[in-house]
Amino acid sequence: PEMAARLNEIIATHAGREGPLLPILHDIQAEYGFIPEPVQPRIAVALGMTRAEVHGVVTFYHDFRAEPAGAHVLRLCRAEACKSMGADQLAAQVRKALGIDWHQTTADGRITLEPVFCLGLCACAPSAQLGDRLIGRADAADLVAMAQEGR
Ligand code: FES
Repeated sequence: PEMAARLNEIIATHAGREGPLLPILHDIQAEYGFIPEPVQPRIAVALGMTRAEVHGVVTFYHDFRAEPAGAHVLRLCRAEACKSMGADQLAAQVRKALGIDWHQTTADGRITLEPVFCLGLCACAPSAQLGDRLIGRADAADLVAMAQEGR
C-alpha cells in the first residue's frame, strides 16, 4: 500500500506533461533502485499505454533496471580515451572474471557491471568506478578483487 501510494504520487506529478513516461521511470528508479515489475501495468493504465509499450521502454533504456542492482555497481568507461588505452580488453577480462556481461549481476548478488561513457578521468585511462569511487589506470584483477571485497 505504501509503495502504491508513492507510485500514484510520482505518476500524478508527471502525468500532465508531455512525454511523462521517462520522468516517471526515472523517479521510480531513483526511489527504489529499479523498476519493480508490478508497477509497469499501473503506469500503463495511468498513461493510457499498453503494458508492452511500458515494458519496451524499461528494457530499451539500459539506465533502467528491472531488478535490484547488486551490492556494488562496477562501471567501466567505454569512451574514446579509455578505448585507446585498452578499455575493451579490460572489459573483456572483467566480464570473464566475474562471469557476467554488461548490465548483469553476479549470482551472489554482490556485483553489477555497467558501462559508462567518460568518467572525466581520461588522463588516467582506462577508468572505472566502483560505487562512488573513481579508479584510474584500472587493472582487471585489482578491480575484480576490490569489487568482490567491497573495497
Ligand atoms: Fe574514459 Fe574519459 S574516456 S574517463
